[in-house]
Amino acid sequence: MWHRDFPVDKVVQLNLRTTLHMGAGAIERIHDILAYLEERGVKSVLVMTSPTAYRKSGAWDVVEKALKSRGFGWHLYDRVSANPTTHQVDEAAAIGRSEGLDAVIGIGGGSVIDAAKITAALLEHTDRTARQVYEFEFVPERSKPIIAINTTHGTGTEVDRIAVLTIPERRLKQAVVYDPLYPVHAIDDPNLLVSLPLDQTRYTALDALSHALESATSRNATPYTLMVDREAIRLIAEYLPKVLDDPADTRARYFLLYASMLAGTAIDFSRLHIGHALEYTLSAEKPEVAHGLGLAVIMPAVFRRVYRAAPSILADMLKPMIPGLQGKAEEADRVAVELEKWIFSTGETRKISDLGYTDEDMDSITEFVMSYEPYVRLMGLAPITMDAESVREIYAESMKPIS
Ligand SMILES: [Fe+2]
Repeated sequence: MWHRDFPVDKVVQLNLRTTLHMGAGAIERIHDILAYLEERGVKSVLVMTSPTAYRKSGAWDVVEKALKSRGFGWHLYDRVSANPTTHQVDEAAAIGRSEGLDAVIGIGGGSVIDAAKITAALLEHTDRTARQVYEFEFVPERSKPIIAINTTHGTGTEVDRIAVLTIPERRLKQAVVYDPLYPVHAIDDPNLLVSLPLDQTRYTALDALSHALESATSRNATPYTLMVDREAIRLIAEYLPKVLDDPADTRARYFLLYASMLAGTAIDFSRLHIGHALEYTLSAEKPEVAHGLGLAVIMPAVFRRVYRAAPSILADMLKPMIPGLQGKAEEADRVAVELEKWIFSTGETRKISDLGYTDEDMDSITEFVMSYEPYVRLMGLAPITMDAESVREIYAESMKPIS
């Protein structure tokens, strides 16, 4: 297969809506990106990141030197958490406004890049708050330039126009999708990922897997996104086990990064559905639950039902993990069991009960999903009709292992 020999240290440029610099060593492209910003009159930037990964990944060494050598001013905001909040974004935007910062560089995974995107929009809409974005009180029409330096292989947010934040006082986690949220430049450099801890490695790859499976079975799926999703899943099936064996395997990191980027472009076109609507509810209520973990615990129950409605597509998609599927609806139970076994084979064997939920919580989390119109709308993109009973069934079935 071509990907076993492809020179992963060749830095390539993919001109998507975002200009993506991809390859081992691509972080050095920050010099060209700063030159691009300079040409557009940017003199100082807001750097957004989480407390440690930007240094540990090695990204900051290169970015800081580049900022210094080109005479840029910057403010480093390093308080973005997992499941980032509207408050963090408002705090960063206030700093950016008061210091007159003209672009936002996010160094991190999906949480950081999503927070950077909304902050960049709020630097153009100076009388608005992040909560207003997520309560759909206004639509961002422009943003300061967004630069995404990606340090995980999960969301694909470095190349799409999606950003997810949590409004903590409402325990509400939500995605918004707006054109000004496309980063102008992004960097996918596998060298930045070799220090990603194994649990994050699993969660982010499982997030990418759910993106590919949900977008492939979305009502908005297209032949193009199906092709992209099939390739993403094939690469995750081959390279996630390799990375778990050897976290410093740059080739395996490269192709997981490529797979997550592909799935990010697919959800940009086709969106997501049940998995994400039901997961957002879990990790909004318990922010310590990683997004990919929340998805992993419900994925078998979700795709048992989705398979019944889209067996030929899912048989094709799941072939690398579950060989021999014929694309018949009656294979749905086997798919749920085999998919769970595959997830467990990555070392993640928890289910909802292990996240602190009990049988008594099933009604309240179901009610939460069904009471929030954007979640119901998201589930409307699934190929099956979802109601309170089916939501509850998925949660209840995900309490304990089915395999
Ligand atoms: Fe996701």
